[in-house]
Amino acid sequence: MSDRYQKIATSPFGKSLFSALGLPTPVKLDRQKQVDKDFIKGKVLFGMASGSKLSDVVMQTLAASEAAQICCQASAVTASDICRAAEQHGRKAVQISTGGEDATRFKGLVFDATGIDSTTSLRELHTFFSPVVRKMENSGRIIVLGRPMDECSDVSKASAMRALEGFTRSLAKEVGKKGTTVQLIYVCSGAEAHLESALRFCLSPKSAYVSAQVIRVTTAANPESLDWTRPLDSKVVLVTGASRGIGESIAEVMARDGAKVVCLDIPQAKAQLDKVATRLNGSSIAVDITAPDAPKVIADALEEIGGVDVVVHNAGVTRDKTLAKMKPEWWDMVIDINLASEERINEELLSRNVINNNGRIVCVSSMSGIAGNFGQTNYSASKAGVIGYVQAMAPILAEKNITINAVAPGFIETQMTAAIPMMTREVGRRMNSLSQGGLPKDVAETIAFFASPASTGVNGNIVRVCGQSLLGA
Ligand SMILES: NC(=O)c1ccc[n+]([C@@H]2O[C@H](COP(=O)([O-])OP(=O)(O)OC[C@H]3O[C@@H](n4cnc5c(N)ncnc54)[C@H](O)[C@@H]3O)[C@@H](O)[C@H]2O)c1
Repeated sequence: MSDRYQKIATSPFGKSLFSALGLPTPVKLDRQKQVDKDFIKGKVLFGMASGSKLSDVVMQTLAASEAAQICCQASAVTASDICRAAEQHGRKAVQISTGGEDATRFKGLVFDATGIDSTTSLRELHTFFSPVVRKMENSGRIIVLGRPMDECSDVSKASAMRALEGFTRSLAKEVGKKGTTVQLIYVCSGAEAHLESALRFCLSPKSAYVSAQVIRVTTAANPESLDWTRPLDSKVVLVTGASRGIGESIAEVMARDGAKVVCLDIPQAKAQLDKVATRLNGSSIAVDITAPDAPKVIADALEEIGGVDVVVHNAGVTRDKTLAKMKPEWWDMVIDINLASEERINEELLSRNVINNNGRIVCVSSMSGIAGNFGQTNYSASKAGVIGYVQAMAPILAEKNITINAVAPGFIETQMTAAIPMMTREVGRRMNSLSQGGLPKDVAETIAFFASPASTGVNGNIVRVCGQSLLGA
């Protein structure tokens, strides 16, 4: 559904009127238009606290994007280290004087804070970001890198690492009106080789509607080397609820990334499901995921084609009523479709080894599962249950070299949200740092990041696709 408010707000007349009235003027977000090996284009300023450990992997990643111009602050004590790290990857880091009001604009800012070893050293965040934060292009990308606090033996370092979360969330609120996003990536010691996929995603237009998120990258088996423009080449991906909405978009993005897509939906949606599958050169399974034989039917079909690499549990429903008026059938239905069937299907696939090595499970939660919603006790319980399931399963699946993660979409422009009454819909759309709704593609791109064979170190994460919704913990 088109966002008429945004269209008027971004017109020359609307811009000044809305600004005079103090109304939000959402910018048009840069989104991934085509497969492109240059995941970020423009000046990317890299800085690091003394003693930081990630300059090598950051430079290796940035060097792969030829359209990125790597820069560092000339005044930084680490400038020569950064230049050396860039040279090792065949690139030159341009030293820039960032004081004053010059016209330099940055597409990306990356700060490696792993060297911050006490709360007083947090001042390094201010030193790096303060002079440049107002010099971002629209839809800029800001990344802060830290160590998870649970691996810091020193109390002051642990506090400083936790402080990065508050910093990230507040900065995201300050820069969101220009479509700029801010993420924090905690990289466990020894997991450096696994940072690249998270870094690429967070720097690219694929994360247009993801902001203020904390991603944890852990140690795991070595990531697969891959063609980043077709990361899912020769992989089989199952997408449930694929006949329309977010599921259809997930199937499209997976096919774009090279996957053979198996689209699943209820038998009543078979005609539309087959259309999607045919368009994407994939196949289809028409089954209700709550049917008693569904896990077997799905496992049999996947086994026949050599197993599955990525399982995306997207199918979901709402049946809203306040708890006092909610029929038990509606409670059961929502819990069964959104949560219990996922458990049963995974159990069958895992017990029969149908999920291939370095496999992926991605679940779709919701901001309702985080913040709660009036009239959605059943839905919120099911979607919070999805988060619990992902967190409980992650360490179990890590032993099998399989990851499990979830996305939690906020307000996404779909048939479901188009049906919301106009005023409620407008409030839902604007109540986030980017002042607009997300697109199904934004959810799909985040799932594709989890699904990538390079994301082996990304396990047990819940990433909200909500433009930093003002609701929720
Ligand atoms: N649209 C949003 O703003 C939003 C926000 C947060 C979370 N989500 C979640 O994203 C997912 C997709 O949402 P959407 O907006 O595309 O919804 P949608 O209603 O357009 O699509 C859901 C799909 O799931 C299928 N489905 C439902 N029950 C099924 C069953 N028993 N077996 C097999 N397939 C079944 C439906 O037929 C449909 O094709 C859902 O899990 C939803 O809860 C959506």
